[in-house]
Amino acid sequence: MKVDNYRLQIGSKEYVPIVIGGMGVNISTTELALTAETLGGIGHISDAEVCYVCDQIFSTSYTTRKRKKYSYNANNPDKADVCFDLDDVFEAQKTYVEHTISQKSGNGAIFMNCMEKLTMRNSSETLRARLSAAMEAGIDGLTLAAGLNLRTLDLIKDHPRFHDVKIGIIISSMRALNIFLKRAYKLQRIPNYIIVEGPLAGGHLGFSPDDWQMYDLKTIVKEVLEFLKNENLNIPVIPAGGIFTGTDAAEFLQLGASAVQVATRFTITKESGLPYEVKQHYINTEKDDIVVNTVSPTGYPMRMLKKSPVLNYSMKPNCEGLGYLLDNKGKCGYIDSYYKALSAREEGRRMEITDQTCLCTGMAKYDCWTCGDTTYRLKETTNKMPDGSWQLPSAADIFTDYQFSEDHLIQKPSPEEKVNS
Ligand SMILES: Cc1cc2nc3c(=O)[nH]c(=O)nc-3n(C[C@H](O)[C@H](O)[C@H](O)COP(=O)(O)O)c2cc1C
Repeated sequence: MKVDNYRLQIGSKEYVPIVIGGMGVNISTTELALTAETLGGIGHISDAEVCYVCDQIFSTSYTTRKRKKYSYNANNPDKADVCFDLDDVFEAQKTYVEHTISQKSGNGAIFMNCMEKLTMRNSSETLRARLSAAMEAGIDGLTLAAGLNLRTLDLIKDHPRFHDVKIGIIISSMRALNIFLKRAYKLQRIPNYIIVEGPLAGGHLGFSPDDWQMYDLKTIVKEVLEFLKNENLNIPVIPAGGIFTGTDAAEFLQLGASAVQVATRFTITKESGLPYEVKQHYINTEKDDIVVNTVSPTGYPMRMLKKSPVLNYSMKPNCEGLGYLLDNKGKCGYIDSYYKALSAREEGRRMEITDQTCLCTGMAKYDCWTCGDTTYRLKETTNKMPDGSWQLPSAADIFTDYQFSEDHLIQKPSPEEKVNS
């Protein structure tokens, strides 16, 4: 039983049923997504902090310009003034997507992970700009994530590509799917795929921090499949979260899923955007090093390594330059925690903020080491080098292992003599 015995059909196209999940901020790079595309699967890029990401890749200066424009506000806890320039958001997104799409060379597809919870001080208009720009730049699919996305389809319903671009939704429960479908029916725009993300995934979780252990991906996937059958809806279902071997993946395909979405195993590949040292931390992780906490100002629980530098942040909020999590009133949980800690600070003592963190900065600087539950198993997937460091596999190594492996075997990459960084 192996993944390669199956194919994913979306519209008139067939794919190898392996989807590399979106990992912001620029962990699922253009290069990582393109590997999946070249091998006939689907790769995601993510538009989290897209202006900042463009600055890193193309040496643009969106972040510096914004920071300068609002520098007068840096000591003000009220960030209501701090808005993104919608033209900048559109331009950055278009540049980033065009850069990726123009390098396609295979039979697969490139999708964009768009998180609704990136409210960017103007949730509707910034999301509309991101989605429209991605479509104009030729993205193959939009994966709506991190939120119920109740009004997201309305934002783009008049776009010329509304019916041609593939649209998918990430859900973690039947309730969330039902809510989304009600609006989708009204707009006569049924999603082209449904990603069911279980409690073992990386990034933010669609479960409560106290009871995620009670849920199980297979059970939710079975419920969704049953529901779609009863509704006579033929929509590919794509499970995600904790699928570690090709055999894990094939078991879901046998159950009736159309593909799997995977991410954790790709975090340590050469193509992943994480810095070399962080990839080494991921591989050295033990089960006890992973935590699900509530420090993300999005309000969603998040899984990460306990050693993440972001958990020791006490910096001034960085919203003038970043500000991707500001709500429509210019508020963010970290701002409140920071100013509360500042006023309670004792002379000569280090300020401690434990309930929230500046996720915008943490993700931008690769200081938030978000990861899937199976991260502690990454050492099974690669070789230890003579100097004690770990070899970084290529994304193609991992993709083909998922595609062809059987009996839960994991094919490690061919050993390299030289340490790569
Ligand atoms: C490092 C990392 C970052 C992630 N970032 C995002 C994200 O920005 N948006 C999102 O919708 N999902 C995100 N995810 C979830 C993945 O896209 C994927 O659905 C899930 O992690 C798959 O499970 P697995 O990691 O066990 O293979 C992230 C996952 C990881 C490991």
